[in-house]
Amino acid sequence: MSVSIIVSSVKKVLASALTLSAIPDNWLQLIENKENHYTLNLSLPFMHDKIHRLWQQDILQDLSKNNTLKINGLEWKWQAAVAATQAPMGAKTLPQVKNIIAIASGKGGVGKSTVTTNLALALAAEGARVGILDADIYGPNQPNLLGITEKPQLQGKALIPMLKYGVQSMSIGYLLDSVQTPVIWRGPMVSGALQQLLYDTLWHELDYLLIDMPPGTGDIQLTLAQKVPVSGAVIVTTPQDLALLDVQKAVNMFKKVAVPLLGVVENMSYYHCPKCQHVDAIFGEAGGKQMAEQFELDLLGALPLNTDIRRACDAGVPLVVAAPEGEITQLYHQIAVKLAARLALRAAPMKRRFAKIVVE
Ligand SMILES: Nc1ncnc2c1ncn2[C@@H]1O[C@H](COP(=O)(O)OP(=O)(O)OP(=O)(O)O)[C@@H](O)[C@H]1O
Ligand SMILES: [Mg+2]
Repeated sequence: MSVSIIVSSVKKVLASALTLSAIPDNWLQLIENKENHYTLNLSLPFMHDKIHRLWQQDILQDLSKNNTLKINGLEWKWQAAVAATQAPMGAKTLPQVKNIIAIASGKGGVGKSTVTTNLALALAAEGARVGILDADIYGPNQPNLLGITEKPQLQGKALIPMLKYGVQSMSIGYLLDSVQTPVIWRGPMVSGALQQLLYDTLWHELDYLLIDMPPGTGDIQLTLAQKVPVSGAVIVTTPQDLALLDVQKAVNMFKKVAVPLLGVVENMSYYHCPKCQHVDAIFGEAGGKQMAEQFELDLLGALPLNTDIRRACDAGVPLVVAAPEGEITQLYHQIAVKLAARLALRAAPMKRRFAKIVVE
């Protein structure tokens, strides 16, 4: 009796934290060692070094509400192993990278790069091995966001990724001086550059490689969809209607090439005035939620429009690193684990062939 109560409480708290409808049975095991002494083994398919402490508190609080329950001892064993999503047939694989996640949007300036960097750092803080590929060949932002001014070293013809804040990264911005920004490159050159940055970088054992996508549905997106074994995509949006229309294009594009959509992040969702505590939905309300429903996607989280986010990025010390215990950092962590959990739940072999797509 007690065993099933504890198990269902754990599942309830985890399902609510991860906004999943159900928690797989094999994620947890409860053993009664002797009269009312239990060991709870939690083996989750994603890293959760930090956030599980909050979940543990929530579970204990939930259990404490049940007066009939007798627990004389509860030993927690949290374990994690990141599953690899199998590369689709036909794509050139990166054996040392378990999962490739594209962070995309239809419209520019919605905060993809900022979200990518902070999510990467949140995943790393949870214990995952993370890399960032800046796929914005025309306007790379990761060097500024990560505060990296050095150039990468070469090993033979391969590039050694830059390592900062525990995250590996590669960007064309590390290789070119700003005056050389290749704004006039044509499609094939851009596509070639992206593939080189991805395949000629010596990524060191990664659980997740996050790809910071440029806006729109152009050559870079095509290359990515057709040539790179992407495990899943996340769409960043603001609640503005126009942004949503643009985002629909990106959603459709990923759907056409059968890249699983892991969810939507609504950025600059509301403004929380630090002086008067008023919360204002500047760009309209719940656009991300609407879009998530319309496309049957999960809303992974909503982030405020906040000066600290911008300031931290401008300074090259993203907020997740600058304020590791802050409220907004917490939001990035929640989004990061929801994303990782969804990817793991989809980790069953994906039999996806690379489709030819037409971008409208
Ligand atoms: N939640 C936020 N609160 C305040 N400022 C933000 C937030 N998210 C992003 N910004 C700021 O908005 C600007 C655009 O963000 P970012 O460069 O991440 O967008 P993007 O979608 O990657 O743009 P692009 O399409 O040009 O690649 C940056 O100055 C960034 O610091
Ligand atoms: Mg960007």
